[in-house]
Amino acid sequence: MTKTAAVILAAGQGTRMKSALPKVLHPLAGRPMVAHLIHALGAVAPSRTVVVIGPGMESVADRVAPLPTVLQAERLGTAHAVAQAGEALAGFDGTVLILYGDTPLITPETLTRMVEARLAAEDPAVVVLGFRPADPLQYGRLICSPAGLEAIVEYKDATADQRAIGLCNSGVMAVDGRVLFALLAAVGNDNAKGEYYLTDIVALARRMGRACAVVEGAAEELLGVNSRSELAAAEAVIQGRLREKAMEGGATLTAPETVFFSADTRLGRDVSIGPFVTFGPGVEIGDGVEIKGFCHIEGARVAAKATLGPYARLRPGAAIAEGAHVGNFVEIKNSAVEQGAKVNHLTYIGDARVGARANIGAGTITCNYDGFGKYHTDIGEGAFIGSNTALVAPVSIGAGAIIGAGSTIARDVEADALALTRGPHEVRPGWAAKFRAHMRRLTGKN
Ligand code: UD1
Ligand code: CA
Repeated sequence: MTKTAAVILAAGQGTRMKSALPKVLHPLAGRPMVAHLIHALGAVAPSRTVVVIGPGMESVADRVAPLPTVLQAERLGTAHAVAQAGEALAGFDGTVLILYGDTPLITPETLTRMVEARLAAEDPAVVVLGFRPADPLQYGRLICSPAGLEAIVEYKDATADQRAIGLCNSGVMAVDGRVLFALLAAVGNDNAKGEYYLTDIVALARRMGRACAVVEGAAEELLGVNSRSELAAAEAVIQGRLREKAMEGGATLTAPETVFFSADTRLGRDVSIGPFVTFGPGVEIGDGVEIKGFCHIEGARVAAKATLGPYARLRPGAAIAEGAHVGNFVEIKNSAVEQGAKVNHLTYIGDARVGARANIGAGTITCNYDGFGKYHTDIGEGAFIGSNTALVAPVSIGAGAIIGAGSTIARDVEADALALTRGPHEVRPGWAAKFRAHMRRLTGKN
């Protein structure tokens, strides 16, 4: 019913980031900044979204695909940047949201409020998202009258009185698509920076007799990222949100400020998370899972009532089934640990299946790599792997088999068998005492 489109400005080089990576690809909570914006836009379901990129930013185009990108070959200002989307939005007569690629914390709720304000009875041509930063710095200032928003004045072009205004331009706008490109065409560059300012469309719309309006947002969600330090500040904001969301969803976090989530982390109910736990991208945790302190989890699924850690590491492709236990100093990669299996101490499981209820002794290593290829280890249901065992893949341990401690197993073991590889146990009574006596005589040491 309410048609929206979006333009994301991402042509900035981000020179202050001092990075080979385009600024908008820097991740927050494991997801590039530009992807956060695209995700937030989901709330207003834009029928078209166009990303404006600069020269040499193919990596941004790849990341936002299938969304189209348009190239702003020369950086002539924010109005010029939006104008590049003219062809892509030709004939669009709904509301166009304009977002900045380096302002990634904007919430779906705020975008929804912007679109709603655009559709208010006064039919404002431009709705600007304003905010009141603690330090208004060099932001554009919003000049309001009882009739609404009159103009935006860039800091460099502002008078002392105008600079005293606390209400600032976040840059985010919702514009009537029927007039946006006509307004942009009327913007000139006779100003302090010699740029085509997007902000000029407000005064131009007022001159056409159209209303303009302000929606206020929280300063926190309009934080712009121009440096690594601001990136860290934005990360802190996003982590705060993700921790709140986890707790609202029914997870217990004993020390929330030490837990780091990815934007896509999925938690069931009654998950308990100890201190210093990090979730990389692609993690799904089932109901009632207990994650003790200092775990690092990435690209992994953990089913209901499993327990992890302390100090467990799950790498991509780890699938821990219901009720399984993964204990301290255990690393699991690309492996299924089936229902009720236990891998409790000092172990590496890679490219393997650990059958249901199997018990993996301390210090077991799957030797999955020979310097060239990766090989599979299969451990059957109910098997018992003695401590300090090396399983040299490809190898298969039958269901119910027992492997003696300290073995190196390079051949398949049939179900219910005992397999062990050990040197003979040799004892020489009194040898140690004789050795010491001899050495003391020889060296004069005690
Ligand atoms: C802009 C606003 C200012 C606002 C501030 C909020 C204008 C004229 N001013 O100022 O009122 O308070 O943002 O942060 O709009 N970009 C392009 N192509 C260009 C120029 C910019 O894609 O030719 C992109 C940049 O990559 C950036 C965004 O637009 O993501 C803002 O550009 P920037 O030059 O940082 O604008 P400000 O001077 O900060
Ligand atoms: Ca800026």
